[in-house]
Amino acid sequence: MMTPKMADQIRHMEKVGKLAAEVLVEAGKLVRPGITPNEINQFVHEFTLSRSARPAPLNYHGFPKSVCTSINTVVCHGVPDDRPLKEGDIINIDVTCEKSGYYGDTSRTFYVGKVSERAKNITEAAEEAMFKGIEQVNPNATVGDIGFAIEKFTTRKGFHVVRELGGHGIGKNFHEEPFVPSFGKKGRGDKLRPWIAITVEPMINETAAPIREFDIPGSTIKWYDTSDGSLSAQFEHTVLVTDAGHQILTRF
Ligand code: MF3
Ligand code: CO
Ligand code: CO
Repeated sequence: MMTPKMADQIRHMEKVGKLAAEVLVEAGKLVRPGITPNEINQFVHEFTLSRSARPAPLNYHGFPKSVCTSINTVVCHGVPDDRPLKEGDIINIDVTCEKSGYYGDTSRTFYVGKVSERAKNITEAAEEAMFKGIEQVNPNATVGDIGFAIEKFTTRKGFHVVRELGGHGIGKNFHEEPFVPSFGKKGRGDKLRPWIAITVEPMINETAAPIREFDIPGSTIKWYDTSDGSLSAQFEHTVLVTDAGHQILTRF
């Protein structure tokens, strides 16, 4: 049963999810050789404010920018800077908006100009891995079902899931319980419930090399790379668990 208050909260989540998706699509249109991550950051910042929302990364645990931009070997939480993108790069843009006290979180990996088959393969696998995970989302599933599906698909493609980082509950907070790993066993882990929202956001790497952690000055957030020069790719949606299945809130 859904109370009027819950229906209202879901409307807020739908709104902020749609907005995050729109910001991401518009930011993606800027991606081309020569543009800098700081220019993308500036766009995300201003566009989000123009929609009466707030770019949630800015000042989140001291994070200095309004969006994360993770290029090639960067696994996640890349901090935008002034180094221009180059033809052949892949860049994950991770947008999180807050509006009326609710959060929506979504990311995609974009191609900078023409990219190698190698770059295309891992990017396509990351998107499909995310959808394999999302397919599992329903009120009777567990986070282990999601992780199992993601890891099985990723391994079959010859790639490696990142285990240290994953999805999360989301709603009135940017990050909430449960943690949503990109690996797991069927039927294990936290059970999902109707009307919670989670993110499904697998990070996948070309090799099993351990990821490396780096400090961000003035922040407790870390950024990560693959440590051996191999590529990493990621996609993310915010997904509502419904009474019968799920609804992707950040689909544009
Ligand atoms: N958007 C990221 C996620 O998917 C979190 C970024 S935290 C920040 O969970 F501080 F780096 F922005
Ligand atoms: Co997230
Ligand atoms: Co995100």
